Amino acid sequence: MTGRLVIVGLGPGAAELITPQASDALAAATDLVGYGPYLARVPERAGQARHASDNREELARAGHALDLAAAGKSVAVVSSGDPGVFAMASAVFEAIETGNPAWRDVEVSVVPGVSAMLAAAARVGAPLGHDFCVISLSDNLKPWDVVLRRLEAAAAADFIIVLYNPASKARPWQLGEALAHIAKHRAGATPVIFARAVSEPNESIDITTLAEADPARADMRTLIIVGSSATRVVARGGRSFVYTLRHAELVEP
Ligand SMILES: C[S@@+](CC[C@H](N)C(=O)[O-])C[C@H]1O[C@@H](n2cnc3c(N)ncnc32)[C@H](O)[C@@H]1O
Repeated sequence: MTGRLVIVGLGPGAAELITPQASDALAAATDLVGYGPYLARVPERAGQARHASDNREELARAGHALDLAAAGKSVAVVSSGDPGVFAMASAVFEAIETGNPAWRDVEVSVVPGVSAMLAAAARVGAPLGHDFCVISLSDNLKPWDVVLRRLEAAAAADFIIVLYNPASKARPWQLGEALAHIAKHRAGATPVIFARAVSEPNESIDITTLAEADPARADMRTLIIVGSSATRVVARGGRSFVYTLRHAELVEP
């Protein structure tokens, strides 16, 4: 008997940013699979089994979830933010493509979530109002020179750049190097946002400039938005908003 597997985005942290569709999918599952701190965000339900795993074990976790579903369970794999943005949905599909052929019979669906960059952007205004790109600075899953090449291309093309996974204890220097590469193509006054633990009780948002951006402010709960040449800071009502013009012209490098 084959069951079902749904990959559910939990949003950036706050319970009110879990969508009704995600809540329904979580309530319908017999088994929840995911990284322990993400599972802890899901309300306990009698009779529902929880399978917590280490955050680095994405493919193994996907395989475990598919095994449970292939055995007839109704499985929800939980992911922070949106499950398709640097998260579990890709791991599940990779496991289906390369793993046990029985997994191909499992009914699979994806429930979107509010990605952290969207929650962070909303906190400060509308910095993603024109063309933007999103780059993970983690070199665990791709070589660092690929990260730098993509950053250079995005910076030269005047995209607003969102940086995910900017720093961790094991990756302390990458953000400084990344910002230095972007600064080759951007004015020092370019607005930069450090958004940490967005929507959580310990949230912090700092609006600074590229010249003053301090890489030491970032950790693995932080994302960074670097504005384009069309990104502005506007002071209003005792606070600052950041937005990007809708009618930006491309600035040639
Ligand atoms: C593996 S990625 C997961 C991204 C997630 N799927 C999403 O759509 O937001 C983890 C990175 O997302 C960012 N992130 C996740 N939640 C965040 C939050 N509440 N506030 C700021 N950044 C967050 C951080 O850059 C973190 O290192």
